[in-house]
Amino acid sequence: MSLIPDCQIPDTQIIPAFLTSRDRKDIRLQIAASWGMLAGYLKPDLIEVKFMANAPIIQCALDYVNLPEAMAMAYQVQGAVEALEIGTPLCKAEGMRAVNTIRALCPGKIILADVKTPDVGGLEAKIAFDAGADWMTVLGAAPLDTLRLALEEADSRPGHEVLVELTGIKDVLAQAAIWREVGVERMVYHRGWDEGNLSRTWDESDRQAISALIEMGFTMSVAGGLELETFSFFEGLDIAVFIVGRAIRETPDPARAARAFRARIDEIWGA
Ligand code: 5RP
Ligand code: MG
Repeated sequence: MSLIPDCQIPDTQIIPAFLTSRDRKDIRLQIAASWGMLAGYLKPDLIEVKFMANAPIIQCALDYVNLPEAMAMAYQVQGAVEALEIGTPLCKAEGMRAVNTIRALCPGKIILADVKTPDVGGLEAKIAFDAGADWMTVLGAAPLDTLRLALEEADSRPGHEVLVELTGIKDVLAQAAIWREVGVERMVYHRGWDEGNLSRTWDESDRQAISALIEMGFTMSVAGGLELETFSFFEGLDIAVFIVGRAIRETPDPARAARAFRARIDEIWGA
């Protein structure tokens, strides 16, 4: 039963594609509180809030091995993307000063540190967040305890998130049920570079897996050699973030390429 039908959150207060189910619950809680006396006995989950339709955001992956090139690219594309990724090669080559610098250069953007943590989750999350990242990645192959500790670090800092990176994971759906239990909200469904270059194309099994993960409540980022022509393949899926690297960076006019991705997304998912 809907107790507060058609309760509409103003556009200006939320950016829908960023919302995880936890964010949505928090918003419901805030609404319950703002309904004053009702808040005492109104269960937030019973409040029906209409969230706006999700249009995926674009995250440009800065997969460089030196900071000046990454800075130049971030500066060029920042007007056309919502998030910037400090790519794994950049994290390894330049360390967290890359996160720090891009954060200072682009203060209004979401910054993801693609550290792909395999162990020492709490400390690696702390290092990435201390440097200014909003989001960081932990490998799906990492032990559950690594994930738990990274999530604990993120939970102690509002607005910070851990994303499970699915590169190389075979039994995604079975694992996903366990990850859900430990509190994972976000994942990166990733066709790895090497697989993409040598042997793997996007196929129906990817669509089905992404769809099932969304159905389970995960907020999904998708990555791996995405190109403008690839996007229609994902039509109909409620994807939160498209990560695009080479198809933006390796063009004569990266800002223009990023804008073309935005236009394509708006065409498919609605502006
Ligand atoms: C490689 C990565 C890349 O950042 C990701 O694949 C996006 O880059 P591209 O669009 O060039 O594939 O994490 O491991
Ligand atoms: Mg990456």
